[in-house]
Amino acid sequence: NNLELQPMIDAHDLLKKFYHHLLVNTKEGQEAYDYLLNRGFSKEVIDKFEIGYSLNSWEFVKKFLAKRGFHPEIMDQAGLLVKKNETNEYFDRFRNRIMFPIHDHHGHVVAFSGRVLGNEQPKYLNSPETKLFNKSKLLYNFHQARVHIRKYQEAVLFEGFADVISAVESGVPNSIATMGTSLTEEQVKVLKRNVSDVIICYDSDQAGREATMRAAKILTKAGSKVKVAVIPDGLDPDDYIKKYGSEKFKQDVIGASVTLMSFKMQYYRKGKNLQDEGDRLKYIEEILKEIAVLESPVEQEMYVKQLSAEFSLSIEVLKDQLSRTERKSQ
Ligand code: UTP
Ligand code: MN
Ligand code: MN
Ligand code: MN
Ligand code: MN
Repeated sequence: NNLELQPMIDAHDLLKKFYHHLLVNTKEGQEAYDYLLNRGFSKEVIDKFEIGYSLNSWEFVKKFLAKRGFHPEIMDQAGLLVKKNETNEYFDRFRNRIMFPIHDHHGHVVAFSGRVLGNEQPKYLNSPETKLFNKSKLLYNFHQARVHIRKYQEAVLFEGFADVISAVESGVPNSIATMGTSLTEEQVKVLKRNVSDVIICYDSDQAGREATMRAAKILTKAGSKVKVAVIPDGLDPDDYIKKYGSEKFKQDVIGASVTLMSFKMQYYRKGKNLQDEGDRLKYIEEILKEIAVLESPVEQEMYVKQLSAEFSLSIEVLKDQLSRTERKSQ
């Protein structure tokens, strides 16, 4: 760690502790604490993830940091303060929010994300990109999950903070998240160094399904083996756990995760009526395209047979079509 970054790291560390103190020990933090407890987060997990609360003030953090010798320009570069236009005045970035510390892979806090207590926008306010925080390289909770990921030889990938926290609380400690953005090649590189099997468990909405397809493509390209844990009813993993409980989540969602091809079959079936000839043809073409990009001839054969059985088409015809598809995609 070089000299320039150290004060930024120290400030995050100090603030993390203070935000947490405000949440769990003060009258000012009571409403935020109640909000979390009402959502079903336990006191233990709130401590484990060092969740906090930022006061409803424009200059609490500014003064708090100045008193401890941190320069406002550097705290601005660290993303903790914001400079007023055309002035030398600074104010607090995070106000009246539930604070989630974001750790780098060594365990240093390098950023925060602050959630509103109500329905205002943005729901989560994040630290900007800084010298400490590169969102496209970090995976949320990787610093705590790594040892479990290595032990189970499997990682479970979520979209958001609440999903990871609930999953860990449910007994799935190898949980990490992309924090709402698309999974990047850099994140996959970090994962690949530790594990080859990844279960994607994204929100059960159209955005989540599309993000699953994108993430799976990047993971597969890097040589990872992907499975998908499908959440029902438009819920997200956290909602599901709160509604159905940990055991059901572990058994019926994580334990029942499906192969990537099964997920793709479900994905392409959505909105189609396979009794309709046009839809049926379209579906078969889409699946053949997916089969065409598979590396393993054994897998290809298996899925061709499956299609053949399902739609009463001869294997020869499907293979012929497949080789045309392969030629086209080359
Ligand atoms: P979601 O919209 O699914 O939120 O975004 P969530 O995680 O379910 O949040 P809760 O349960 O309402 O508290 C998924 C993730 O996208 C990022 C966050 O990392 C969030 O966890 N996100 C979302 C943002 O960074 N900013 C936003 O305004 C919204
Ligand atoms: Mn370090
Ligand atoms: Mn979502
Ligand atoms: Mn969600
Ligand atoms: Mn949620």
